Amino acid sequence: MRKNDGTSRPATVRRGAKRPVFTAALLASAAAATLGLSGCFGGGDDNTPAPAPADPPQAQFLHPELVGQGQDVFRNDTFGDEAKWTDQLKMNEVIEAAVDPLTAAGVGVKVDLDALPAAVAGAILAGDVPLDDPQSTLALLELNAVVGIRGEVSTDAAGKKHLDRMGITCALCHSTVSREDLPGDIGKALKGVVGHRLDGHPNRDLNPGAIIALSPALAGDANKAARDQLNSWGPGKYDPRWNFDGISNPTVIPPAYGLAALTKAIFTGDADAVHEPAGPVAYWNRYVSVTQMGGIGKFSDSRLQGKLGGYHDVDNTNGGKLADRVTGVLPALQAYQYSLPAPKAPAGSFDAAAAARGQVVFSGAANCASCHAGDAFTDAAQGKLHPAEGTSVANDQDYVKRSATQQWRTSPLAGIGFRASLGEKFFHDGSADNLAEVVDMYNARKSLGLSATQKSDLVEYLKSL
Ligand code: HEC
Ligand code: HEC
Repeated sequence: MRKNDGTSRPATVRRGAKRPVFTAALLASAAAATLGLSGCFGGGDDNTPAPAPADPPQAQFLHPELVGQGQDVFRNDTFGDEAKWTDQLKMNEVIEAAVDPLTAAGVGVKVDLDALPAAVAGAILAGDVPLDDPQSTLALLELNAVVGIRGEVSTDAAGKKHLDRMGITCALCHSTVSREDLPGDIGKALKGVVGHRLDGHPNRDLNPGAIIALSPALAGDANKAARDQLNSWGPGKYDPRWNFDGISNPTVIPPAYGLAALTKAIFTGDADAVHEPAGPVAYWNRYVSVTQMGGIGKFSDSRLQGKLGGYHDVDNTNGGKLADRVTGVLPALQAYQYSLPAPKAPAGSFDAAAAARGQVVFSGAANCASCHAGDAFTDAAQGKLHPAEGTSVANDQDYVKRSATQQWRTSPLAGIGFRASLGEKFFHDGSADNLAEVVDMYNARKSLGLSATQKSDLVEYLKSL
């Protein structure tokens, strides 16, 4: 399990006096969720009567058992979304018929090296497992070795495997694997496909649109326009409102790490403790697990009444006939995400002297710190949002209009150096290919008039975060 190793940048403790309340709120909701945690709760001196709304706690205050429970949910829980992926989209049939491991890798699906018994890993690397046979995919699913996809596999009398049911988990989009050097030619080809799980790291290879477009439910001429939209998104992007308003304008898949201390989640800050008692990240986890993954639970937000093509709320419990599988796990799921620190910039990946000069530009001439403020580099830690007009310098100016807030949250920048070292694209629409482009876009669109040296120093500073 990844934990805050205590070496990450110490987060500012807001309203330090409320620390016990953060803890109490989390423990109370965990207990209410009957997560079966053992009795180390209420380690006793806090008599605060009613827990405050669940503002994000600092990572160091999270209960390790709650975090462990959340890790299991993040990786393994489908919330009962097999109803969507199996019964409705029939993706189990697609996978069984045509998705061999190489095809799966081609749309960005990852394999968890630690879930493979040594003999299986050895056989794959020796070329003894046919990677062009869907039966091999089913074998991997049987081992729960496919990151973010859960399958129920049966074997018939002739020894052929069948994928009876399948569903997806949060890890499909928000985990990737390490770029491990694996032995041999096959190992070389599988670098970055088979590796150790990295939870919270966005899978920017994953092509969710292309995957969904393979569904038999979207076959035929009548669905050609929908398939074309899905196929236009490309790797690392997803549109979490397309199914409601039919508008195709995806965002990049963002990290789910480095979020402790932010009172607003998602690009547009829709997610906060006012609209979801379990907390900001839990708001969006509920939204996605119910309305996108198809999990059994409910989502509603009156701010969205009449927006998004008339959509207001979703009830996948069939009016309460099916047990809600989402609400009870939200505190643990959220705690796990808050426990994931933003990765540090790799050693030697930036010029320290230039970064020190760049820090002065960041707070001074370029005025970046007016929004990217504090230890998390965002005023979202103070709950602040910004008007749509002229705030984001990204190419796309429309995504924000589909949100509940109609505003932008200043994106946190911790971990941005690490992300740059991976070649990730920046801004919600991925419109900056690298940090130099980010700085150029700000310089041009905000008329900052930075010199070439100021710009390159600023880039080195960003690379250090
Ligand atoms: C199909 C891909 C996909 C799946 C599955 C998915 N997400 Fe996301 N997630 C996204 C995208 C795209 C966004 C950006 C939406 C936005 O900000 O408007 C996002 C945003 C987030 C954020 C906000 C990050 C921030 O900076 O505030 C968190 C946290 C998150 N997801 C966690 C989860 C969890 C937990 C699950 C499982 C319940 C999940 N996601 C399932 C694609 C996905
Ligand atoms: C008015 C507030 C504001 C100011 C000033 C500002 N930013 Fe931002 N920044 C934002 C918002 C809002 C976003 C998210 C926009 C989007 O994704 O479209 C963002 C996104 C970013 C990102 C992308 C983060 C990611 O995860 O993709 C970087 C990098 C960044 N800003 C750096 C800077 C730098 C450098 C400066 C100074 C030149 C600066 N910002 C000035 C509000 C601001």
